[in-house]
Amino acid sequence: MNNLMGKSALLTGASRGIGSFIVKSLAKEGIKIVCVARSEDKLKEVQKKVEELGGNSQIFPFDLNNISLIPDLIARIKAESGVVDILINNAGIEMYRKYGDYSAQELNSILAVNLHAPMELTRLLLPGMLDRGSGHVINVASLAGCKGVAYNAIYSATKAGMIMWSDGLRQELRGTGVGISTIKPGYISEAGMFHNSGQDAPKLLGTSPPQAVADAVIRAIKGNKAEIIVNKGPIKPLLALNVFTPVFGDSVVRWFGVQELSAKRVE
Ligand SMILES: NC(=O)c1ccc[n+]([C@@H]2O[C@H](COP(=O)([O-])OP(=O)(O)OC[C@H]3O[C@@H](n4cnc5c(N)ncnc54)[C@H](OP(=O)(O)O)[C@@H]3O)[C@@H](O)[C@H]2O)c1
Repeated sequence: MNNLMGKSALLTGASRGIGSFIVKSLAKEGIKIVCVARSEDKLKEVQKKVEELGGNSQIFPFDLNNISLIPDLIARIKAESGVVDILINNAGIEMYRKYGDYSAQELNSILAVNLHAPMELTRLLLPGMLDRGSGHVINVASLAGCKGVAYNAIYSATKAGMIMWSDGLRQELRGTGVGISTIKPGYISEAGMFHNSGQDAPKLLGTSPPQAVADAVIRAIKGNKAEIIVNKGPIKPLLALNVFTPVFGDSVVRWFGVQELSAKRVE
């Protein structure tokens, strides 16, 4: 999808963090943005910023834990905002815990917001995209979906699920005019869940700015990219090595200091 001017994008997690950077990049491309998140106040602030950029947005406060209400949300968006050309599944949550300390409610919530809601939103919006022979789905996953993270294993599972679901669906969509891309960020500076933790990233891994994720989203839509990794250093050889020897992969991750950092984030 090369010319994005006048297209419409539904962005989840639009109220803060990486989402607010994606909002600005979409507005600069002339895309009308349908902003979804729980906080109405923060969404109103985002809407104001879009107006200042000369862009167009609408806000739909919604809690993505409410999977059974997503069809109503989409019906409302279609009635009030019209066609959705691009879906960007960006909202996500993580909770660092020793595994046995997760409550059943926390487990369900991580699965719902990070994986079930993106699948349900896509299920509802894809038929329209296919009818028009044009559309794109962006799934903001994580490098944590490529190598599991200690004390954040449920989050890792949702991101791995997102990556494999996108991989299957991409093959199904071949030749339809509808694309799907996965964005895999590492540690992100300046804004977002890692920045908010107040911890420093392991020196050997470093951080990337949130604008790099927003740039990757635009690049993925325009170039119909299967996946884009957003990370400071080259990580693909290490991920490949981990496929062959996961236990050696565990040692590398420990040596980088990832496990030590994750242990500090346990609540
Ligand atoms: N930051 C990083 O280092 C990093 C690294 C890799 C991947 N990622 C991924 O990047 C994406 C964005 O993360 P971020 O760092 O920007 O996180 P963040 O700052 O914590 O923001 C999360 C966004 O999701 C929304 N959200 C959370 N729970 C929700 C719910 N139940 N219903 C609706 N919206 C909800 C939040 O809005 P409300 O609170 O207003 O609902 C907020 O807009 C996530 O998918 C994350 O997994 C981030």
